Amino acid sequence: MRQSLVIGNWKMNGTRASAQALAQGIIAGLGTSNAALAICVPYLHIPDISQVVSGTQLALGSQNIADKAAGAFTGEISASMLAEFGCQYALVGHSERRSYYGDTDATVAARFAQAQEQNIIPVLCVGETLEEREQDQTFQVINKQLDAVIDVAGVAAFSRAVVAYEPVWAIGTGKTASDEQAQEVHSHIRKYFADKDQAIADKLQILYGGSAKPDNAKGLFAMPDIDGGLIGGASLDAESFLKIYNSTKAV
Ligand code: PGA
Repeated sequence: MRQSLVIGNWKMNGTRASAQALAQGIIAGLGTSNAALAICVPYLHIPDISQVVSGTQLALGSQNIADKAAGAFTGEISASMLAEFGCQYALVGHSERRSYYGDTDATVAARFAQAQEQNIIPVLCVGETLEEREQDQTFQVINKQLDAVIDVAGVAAFSRAVVAYEPVWAIGTGKTASDEQAQEVHSHIRKYFADKDQAIADKLQILYGGSAKPDNAKGLFAMPDIDGGLIGGASLDAESFLKIYNSTKAV
């Protein structure tokens, strides 16, 4: 069975003090769940939060990662820098990066590869816009986003990666995909991998993201191909984040 995983995506929120308090609050409320838990925090908070989470069950991640290893790339943060501060996960290809900051399928694939070079687990975000869904292009869009990475990194690389299905129309909008809508796409993603490598598909953690909240998480996480969540807004409050975490399937 796959271990469940819940990842908080804090986006561009928090002060130094509030970020540390939030991480401490999450740690203080951790129960006995054997699901994995991580927070992807703003770059600048990584040094502080790496100290807060040290020795706890809470893992640390970044929200992005450079597509190059080192050199004259002003403003970028490399995988080796993140690894040095104990980052275990890095989001790659979040829809906000793709739509506001020009991430392309090609740079997303390069970021994915850079993360793995440093033993950081890339969390590859994929998902369709409302328009694409209405035009019945959901699966095509997701296949293309997956292919861009599979072509560069190979399917075997997904033994050390996570996929997050995040319908763009559900992110931060309060509109969640229904349990069945999400399961349909998760099952498609797993089958897409299974056609290439059954063992990789069976083990791949596929997370749902998009307005996941304490009151809808249990239903989503009960679906057979939904292995946890990538949580934005609701991860900014320790109590609601922990409620979501405690809604994962027992495995
Ligand atoms: P949301 O964000 O939970 O606020 O919709 C999810 C995400 O963008 O990862």
